[in-house]
Parts: sequence; C-alpha cells; structure tokens
Amino acid sequence: MILVTGAGGQLGQCFRKLSADFPEMSFIFAGSGELDIADHAAVKRMFKHHSIRWCINCAAYTAVDKAESEPEQAKRINVTGVKNLARACAAAGIPLIHFSTDYVYHSNQNRPFTEDDAFSPKGVYARTKLQGERAALNTHPFGLMVIRTSWVYSEFGHNFVKTMLRLGAERPVLNVVFDQIGTPTYAPDLALAVLQIIDKVQCAEIPVEHLTGVWHYSNEGVASWYDFAQAIFEIRNMPCRVFPIETEDYPTPAQRPPFSVLNKLKIKTQLGVEIPHWRESLIRCLKALEV
Ligand SMILES: NC(=O)c1ccc[n+]([C@@H]2O[C@H](COP(=O)([O-])OP(=O)(O)OC[C@H]3O[C@@H](n4cnc5c(N)ncnc54)[C@H](OP(=O)(O)O)[C@@H]3O)[C@@H](O)[C@H]2O)c1
Repeated sequence: MILVTGAGGQLGQCFRKLSADFPEMSFIFAGSGELDIADHAAVKRMFKHHSIRWCINCAAYTAVDKAESEPEQAKRINVTGVKNLARACAAAGIPLIHFSTDYVYHSNQNRPFTEDDAFSPKGVYARTKLQGERAALNTHPFGLMVIRTSWVYSEFGHNFVKTMLRLGAERPVLNVVFDQIGTPTYAPDLALAVLQIIDKVQCAEIPVEHLTGVWHYSNEGVASWYDFAQAIFEIRNMPCRVFPIETEDYPTPAQRPPFSVLNKLKIKTQLGVEIPHWRESLIRCLKALEV
C-alpha cells in the first residue's frame, strides 16, 4: 500500500488521477482532513492501522509569501510534519519520497544547479523546506528520497498557468517578471516519474537504498515567468499582451531566486527518468484544461 499524504493538493491530486494507470499498486490517499502530518500520534495511528509499504509526501505549507507572517505554521508542517513521516517510515522500514523546492538555491550562480551545489535559502518557506529535507535525511538514513522541484503547475489547485488564463481573459495586458529564470514542472510528469521509479524498485531493477538522497526534477528547458506567460497565451491563441517587468517592480513579501534552473542529469542517468520539455507539457496541460 502506498500512502499519499497531502492528497488534496495539486501534486497529490495528480497521483490520485495517475493511480488508475498503475492497477498493480494500491494506494491510500490522505488529505489534510484525514491526516495532519504534524500530528505525531495521528501519523503513528495511520501506520499502525494500514499496511503501508511506501509513503509519498505531497503535504506542505506552500504559501510562500504568507509564510513570512506565519513562520511557526510553516515550520510545523514543513519541518515537524516531515520529521514525523520520516520517523514513522524509518520505524516501519519503508521508503519515503518527499518533495522540496528550487528556492533552497538563492545565489548569483548562472549554470543549472546540481544536487551538490551550495544552498542559501531566503525566506521562511525556503528555509523550512530545507530544514525539512535535513530533518528527514537525518531521521531516515535509508530509502529517503528528496526530490527538489520548481514552478509546479497542473490542471488542479492554484498555479501560475490557471492564474494567467484567468487574468488573460479579463485584461488586455499583463506585466510579468522576466528576471527570474527557472523551469516549469508539469505535476503529472513528476507524479509519473515517481510511480515509474517505485515500479522499478518493486521489479528489483533499482535497489531501494539507491533512492537515498537529494534529486532534481523539473521539465526540460529554461524560461522566465514572462516566457512562460507568453507561451500560455500563444498556445491558447489569446490576444492578451505580456509586458516584461523586473522583480523590483513586482515586490513580494518573500524573495524569489533570480535563477533556479535545476540540473536533472542525476535522476535521468541513475534512475532512467525521461523528462519532456516544458513547452510540450504545457500544451498537454492546456489541452487537459479544455475538457
Ligand atoms: N507549487 C510549486 O510551485 C512548488 C514548487 C517547488 C516545490 N514544491 C513542492 O512540491 C510539493 C507539492 O506542492 P503542491 O503544489 O502540490 O502544493 P499544494 O497544492 O499547496 O498542496 C499541499 C497540500 O498539503 C496539504 N497540507 C497542508 N498542511 C498539511 C498537514 N499538516 N497535514 C497534511 N496535509 C497538509 C494541503 O492541504 P490544505 O489545502 O487542506 O491545507 C494541500 O492539499 C510540496 O512539497 C511543495 O513544497 C511546489
């Protein structure tokens, strides 16, 4: 049985949808109402009452700007909650797949970050996500996979693509920052990669111990938020014009890294993951949103 926590979020919902394509795997989907990962006793009960063989943690405090005024709440979920899951998985001797963020990198580097590059998180969200990674890796020294991803979007929940579609239908012109560079990640691509990795472990193609550590996953390619918005309107054939603006003209409570492109060589070469280009995946998402 694969436990998916935070199942009501966008990545969680992608796992739920994709689970139909993996009939040999059985799942328990626990939203925040069914399992509060920060409640240690509740996590223990979940593991006691179900025969859990894998845990995929999609639960997180993801309100990047709000976290600046709610540091305790962000820490409770992103650090304490993750530690609770890591402890329960370690006690049960099962792997945990956990997601972190490109925001742990915040420097002047201008080549894609590898998993070994120095991190320098700025802001509460980024710092708590990094603390959560560290806590998990220290608590669960085997089979603990931390996947750092970036700019996640899908047909579920709130995300940049849905916001652009809404605003682009309401306004003739939108200002979007062009000096933050990264790579969008279509959440169903990430969910598929994870289930394929689990499948490879279950088929003994990859030893479970091999998963331990930090991995990068985003789609291929590079974009600014401006490029991303421009592509959305171009593919959808919407007349909305996009003006490139600088980050300083769009101040937010939490700082975003100016460049956070992830190098995915490790996950591609060591786990055989195939990654589509972000534009190709964006086309699929926009098609899915049409139905
Ligand atoms: N979204 C991005 O652009 C992005 C970028 C890089 C990395 N990531 C990482 O990717 C992962 C998935 O992100 P996402 O976009 O799917 O986030 P999301 O849509 O915000 O989903 C997070 C889910 O966690 C749940 N949750 C919050 N507190 C919880 C708790 N104490 N116990 C159990 N569940 C709880 C939320 O439930 P409620 O809504 O009911 O509170 C929500 O359903 C996260 O680890 C995130 O940090 C995301």
